Amino acid sequence: STRYTAKNEPILEYRRGGKEVKQLEETLNEYKSKLNRIPCIVDGKEVWTNSVQRQLLPFDHQHVLAEYCLADPVLLERAIESGVKNRSRWEQMPVEERANIFLKAADLGSDLKWRSRLLASTMLGQGKTIFQAEIDAACEVIDFWRFNVQYLASALAYSPISTRDSENTYIQRGLEGFVAAVSPFNFTAIGANLASSPALMGNTVLWKSASTAILSNYVVYKLLEEAGLPPGVIQFVPSKGGDFGRAITRSPHLAAITFTGSTDTFMTLWKWVADNIGNYRTFPRMIGECGGKNFHLIHSSADPTTIVYATIRSAFEYSGQKCSACSRVYLPRSMSKTFFAHMKSIMMNELKIGSPLQHETFTSAVIDRASFDNIRNYIEYARSSPTTKILVGGQCDDSVGFYVQPTLIETTDPKDKLMCEEIFGPVLTVYVYEDDKYDETLELIDQTSNYALTGSIFCKDENVLKKTRARLMQAMGNLYINDKSTGAVVNQQPFGGARLSGTNDKAGGPHYIFRFSSPLAVKNMK
Ligand code: ALA
Repeated sequence: STRYTAKNEPILEYRRGGKEVKQLEETLNEYKSKLNRIPCIVDGKEVWTNSVQRQLLPFDHQHVLAEYCLADPVLLERAIESGVKNRSRWEQMPVEERANIFLKAADLGSDLKWRSRLLASTMLGQGKTIFQAEIDAACEVIDFWRFNVQYLASALAYSPISTRDSENTYIQRGLEGFVAAVSPFNFTAIGANLASSPALMGNTVLWKSASTAILSNYVVYKLLEEAGLPPGVIQFVPSKGGDFGRAITRSPHLAAITFTGSTDTFMTLWKWVADNIGNYRTFPRMIGECGGKNFHLIHSSADPTTIVYATIRSAFEYSGQKCSACSRVYLPRSMSKTFFAHMKSIMMNELKIGSPLQHETFTSAVIDRASFDNIRNYIEYARSSPTTKILVGGQCDDSVGFYVQPTLIETTDPKDKLMCEEIFGPVLTVYVYEDDKYDETLELIDQTSNYALTGSIFCKDENVLKKTRARLMQAMGNLYINDKSTGAVVNQQPFGGARLSGTNDKAGGPHYIFRFSSPLAVKNMK
């Protein structure tokens, strides 16, 4: 196992008439034609609770995709007990056997049967197009499983120096207690990684997946089960955020929280941990990936075509609901006329908005009513503010699905809330700076970056680039040069941010899984 080398899962093309599309369509029809019922899973057993919630299709909200059971505080207690009870058996399983379960899961996910389930559940439940679902629910899910095993294997190859007198070893233990994983709707892969990484390291996991991603996350759970994950290692417990947060932070056995979601919720979890800090067996680790307010900074030396396509893709693919999505642009005056004209022409003539099940759709509805309302409020604000102007889009229509048109706004106030607050929708705001005010613009970007997740610099001038990188060094966790700010690939661009964006533990990189390990150093006298 110490020699295992992973490769990124190739992206499949789903050509009309091909066998991948045929299988995918069958699976889509299967999920669409019935009500998919989803239990909680505790100690490997299905638990059908009385509290039943619905998952709707975001692009057709009259259609109920799934009914799922919520875990109440009593069931959450039971799930924690089960995790604590099962931990040592799981941890003592030989590490190769544990790793093999995740490699098997990756192989199953790569195969069309499970791949089409991962894709179809993500397309329907989270409103992703085929391509967006493929890079997330197939490739990234599989990559996390394979690369995390590779990272573990390379750590196991480390051995401390032994001497004439003592033999020294270093053991990757799991944490003492259970790990709580809280995952978001926007990437099926994040749910898979948050639940799997701690498990790979020998921990048991209490997994609260987002209500709007239940079906795909349940598919991930079932796939892991088929790959041989023993009962009681991952407890699948959809629940209300408050119930879950209180149950885990009250337990003396909480060993870590791995969280992806809003900054506010992550802060609340820190506070609840602080409230209980004297009660824990060991200090809980806090791993968080939160919001972003990601920028594209354009220098006058940038390629005029690249900046348009990169910005369209970053801001509007998956309706701006990637944590990495570009939502503010700094544009030099000298390029503004052509940039706006080109953006307008593509946005009005080429971006097809509709059902994600249609091949030609560029992007679909946003995830739910709350998100729709929140985005609409920002657009209303832009409509009424004297310093902002809507250049393209701005229409919102929730009659069938939660549709928000990709929207391009120009502001003359670089500190406008549209330039500072996370919107999580297809709304892009541009501030045009005077070409001779580039240095001031760098200052401005750093000042208004309360978040520090992703950022792109479009610039062909090496000296300017050098200066820009140095000045903005802390304003992002992932920097892109002459490319869009989205689309990090496992083991190519380990992903995460600092400041209000989180603890920058870099999912998809070599260190992430070690947040779930509490190593034991052994000195053994000869
Ligand atoms: N990892 C995702 C991306 O980079 C969020 O777009």
